[in-house]
Amino acid sequence: MCGIVGYVGHQAAGPILLEGLQRLEYRGYDSSGIAVLDRDGALAVLKRQGKLRNLQAAISDMPSGATGIGHTRWATHGQPSDRNAHPHASSNGDVIVVQNGIVENYRELKAELQASLEAEDRTWKSDTDTEVIPELISRELEAGKSFEDALEHAIGRLRGANAIAAIHGANPHKIYAARKGSAGGIVIGYGDGEMFIASDLPALLPHTTTIYHLEDGDIAAINQEGITVRRAGQSPFQPEPIQVDLDPVAIARGPYRHFMLKEIHEQPRALSDTIRGRARLDPPTALADDLSLSADTLRGIGRVLVIGMGTSLHAAMIGRWWMEQIAGIPADFDNASEFRFRAPLLGPSTLVVAVTQSGETIDTLGAMNHVRDRWGAPQVVITNVDGSEATRQADASIIMRCGPEVGVASTKTFVGSLAALYLLACRIGHAQGRLSDENLTLRLEQLLTAPSLLERGLELADQCARIAQQFDSASDFLVLGRGIEYPLAMEAALKCKEISYVHAEGYAAGEMKHGPIALLDQHFPVIALAPRGPLFGKMMSAIQQVSARQAPVIAIGDDGDEELSQQVDHFIGVPPAPPLLTPFSLTPVVQLLAYHIALARGLDIDQPRNLAKTVTVE
Ligand code: F6R
Repeated sequence: MCGIVGYVGHQAAGPILLEGLQRLEYRGYDSSGIAVLDRDGALAVLKRQGKLRNLQAAISDMPSGATGIGHTRWATHGQPSDRNAHPHASSNGDVIVVQNGIVENYRELKAELQASLEAEDRTWKSDTDTEVIPELISRELEAGKSFEDALEHAIGRLRGANAIAAIHGANPHKIYAARKGSAGGIVIGYGDGEMFIASDLPALLPHTTTIYHLEDGDIAAINQEGITVRRAGQSPFQPEPIQVDLDPVAIARGPYRHFMLKEIHEQPRALSDTIRGRARLDPPTALADDLSLSADTLRGIGRVLVIGMGTSLHAAMIGRWWMEQIAGIPADFDNASEFRFRAPLLGPSTLVVAVTQSGETIDTLGAMNHVRDRWGAPQVVITNVDGSEATRQADASIIMRCGPEVGVASTKTFVGSLAALYLLACRIGHAQGRLSDENLTLRLEQLLTAPSLLERGLELADQCARIAQQFDSASDFLVLGRGIEYPLAMEAALKCKEISYVHAEGYAAGEMKHGPIALLDQHFPVIALAPRGPLFGKMMSAIQQVSARQAPVIAIGDDGDEELSQQVDHFIGVPPAPPLLTPFSLTPVVQLLAYHIALARGLDIDQPRNLAKTVTVE
């Protein structure tokens, strides 16, 4: 979703802003723009619809300046176009703003400002909600306020969640930033005689690893020497930066053709890193030092509700399975965007587990808010971003250690989420006395084999590519699974939709004969997830029903399974896994199939159309 960058220092801001925006491309966008301010306060704005190369092609015509802000926009209000791209200017041209989030009351605010604009013979220049922000600031400046006061006043008038960066012609050596609610973060980067801002860390890492995260409600004024923060109830202060140890090389694509492919291959390491030190065998403990919930809270949990969106929802569905099977506790999952609107009944003994790789998904944050305000139930967040908004809202966090995920389609954070959910189920089951030391040891030993299950799945990459190429022109797929493989069927279908733009449905295999079977013929391929396990026989029946309709079947089952391989058109053999661990053996294969279908179709795999990495709007 939208990205923000900013620079103030001694170098030409334009190329630095552009490079920062390139590092945020993975978030998804449909237009972009930058504004620079020279030392005399002259402002220049450049905006282009489409990819950043359109902006890059025009940047040499732009006057230079050492202060500036930039933005990649993912359209919400108004079409993707040059006119609607950020930055937006006040009607007198003096205040320039970029925004992530939504100004929910922009219609009211535009109506309120309309009369003054008309009296001055000025008009709105875009269809966006954002344009009211520079206008509100500018009106307050005209009334004699300082920029910080004017910005604070303007933010106070906005309804919704917003992350904002601004520059002002009368303050040529400053950028301003503000954060309100959960519209994504603002990170400040400290350089040598220069300062950077960005909505996400990857844009800063080539310049600095000394950073500061703005908190909700903060307003910051940044010059080339540092930052001054205003926070409610405190005198303005210079915050203490922190050091992050992320390696800029870790976010480069290396030898891989796409970040998604790189991240699929990083999964064994992401999984090992996420479980390291958290699955100890002697004595058996799960998440010993990593879960800040008291023993009383853990013992008092009567039910677990796991929530999330998209891929994280599919992880939540698998997590529900583990809560029941490993922890022996009643458990449910829910789609975070629906959950709070049906007045759910939780009770204080429900533990809510929110899964969100970004920690900033607005639907999930909304659900977490509802849990806190309505039920006060304890909440654990599983996320890949330490310090994200979800970690601030939760009572406890389990931080995956997957490293930055750049491809828009989640891959390694899916297995990171799974590892955290599995460990949490072990911890709850053990704390409640349902999982004996012996059984906990067994569960943890099995989890420790999961990285090698992933490794062996990745060795099937060439076979996945060959099979995928045969189906590159299919317009539909049905993906079938049962039991713990059913959520994975949904995840496989989601991956196909996201990056291949192929219509795909993930179905519980038992449900197929209740409707979807009507779709099947020789042009409708079916992917069947059929490892040997308690439901294998039932999967075989479903596969036979598919074959009887001449639909081609691609089955993924246990390596060496003759019965299955003889029944189907294409067979991919994965390492046999214990029944609760099949998500780890199957995941790389379904991801690789989706990847290679998209590759064969020549698509933009890392930045699929219309999608965003962090979804900060409802
Ligand atoms: C799928 C994907 C999305 C996210 C969803 C939730 O590949 O990336 O479906 O899973 O937007 O995002 P997080 O996990 O950040 O809450």
